[in-house]
Amino acid sequence: MDRNDAPTVASDALGRNIHDLRISVTDRCNFRCVYCMPKEVFGRGYRFLQKKELLSFEEIERIVRVFARLGVRKIRLTGGEPLVRSELELLIEKIAAVDSIHDISLTTNAALLSPKRARSLRSAGLSRVNVSLDALDDETFKAVNDVGVSVQKVLDGISAAADAGFDSVKVNMVVKRGMNEHSIVPMARYFHGTGQILRFIEFMDVGNTNRWHNDAVITGAEIVDSISAELPLESIEPNYKGEVAQRWRYQDGGGEIGVISSVSQPFCGDCSRVRLSAVGKLYTCLFAANGFNLLEFIREGKSDAEIELKLRSLWSRRRDRYSETRTVESVLLPKVEMSHIGG
Ligand code: GTP
Ligand code: 5AD
Ligand code: SF4
Ligand code: SF4
Repeated sequence: MDRNDAPTVASDALGRNIHDLRISVTDRCNFRCVYCMPKEVFGRGYRFLQKKELLSFEEIERIVRVFARLGVRKIRLTGGEPLVRSELELLIEKIAAVDSIHDISLTTNAALLSPKRARSLRSAGLSRVNVSLDALDDETFKAVNDVGVSVQKVLDGISAAADAGFDSVKVNMVVKRGMNEHSIVPMARYFHGTGQILRFIEFMDVGNTNRWHNDAVITGAEIVDSISAELPLESIEPNYKGEVAQRWRYQDGGGEIGVISSVSQPFCGDCSRVRLSAVGKLYTCLFAANGFNLLEFIREGKSDAEIELKLRSLWSRRRDRYSETRTVESVLLPKVEMSHIGG
């Protein structure tokens, strides 16, 4: 290779190197979680995207290849619910074939994660799975997902993932005051000793439809205190720079938990993530209002070199640090919806 052609890692205006690409493959979901896709907004009349409005698998693969030249090594597939996009395995195979990508993970509600599906995802090249589960009792969980899915259905999905041999299976619990705080300790007890890492997520003001307010946030510190009172915890070092979850270990050897305190202890300083929405818009922050229309840019017939130049230029101008500068006013600003950008 010509020395001048050697890719260099892209660094943003605050010195942060690009490392992860999160790709939303659909805006659709089989759940209607009250904090993400409330039925009064995402009801019968809601217009979901049509297939031709979504990036094709070939387009996504091309974008991944170009991003790999900028330094992206990790890919996360999200939605909506990524497993409702048909033949997702084909996309995973394409991404797994990109040399420098060494980690492909999926964030899912697991309702469609049968043992067979888990095995086919694994053989396609998926490395890791994060499953969302917000409570252990059906009354609370059904009130959260709002479509009547039982806790057992998700636990079965988690077991299917565990049996399929992924490098890790993590469980994400969004904690919202008045919704599920009584489930914090039961969830901790349930996953204690299983090898599945439970992560507690502070409720965030993503999008404009989830009626976020500061009083609904239970902080990571409060969560750790309540668990530690029953199952003593000690803090441990991050696995790598920029990890979103702070890690805590059970003193009795029962494994670890994670706490994602994006509201009370923001982690923008090390944020290495870029996000591609279901309609092919590129966002340099989860809380951004506007994204660059990469789908349109690609469909205009741009070459790989032109795409690379554009992506480098977008990343180099990046100054996002929303969670560090959140104010009462910024909470009300227009922002992309969670179901379009995937968290
Ligand atoms: P791992 O690679 O397994 O650590 O995945 P992850 O935690 O980055 O991904 P996941 O999709 O499981 O996200 C867990 C929670 O972290 C979700 O609520 C995301 O919205 C949130 N999250 C992930 N990245 C960011 C980020 O850059 N900023 C903020 N504010 N939240 C994030
Ligand atoms: N705040 C925090 N986490 C959220 N998620 C969805 N909406 C929110 C929110 N408002 C979580 C999902 C999933 C991950 C992608 O983001 O439960 O685990
Ligand atoms: Fe669907 Fe996940 Fe949003 Fe719930 S949080 S509605 S499972 S995308
Ligand atoms: Fe990154 Fe934006 Fe999240 Fe900060 S708020 S960590 S800049 S995505």
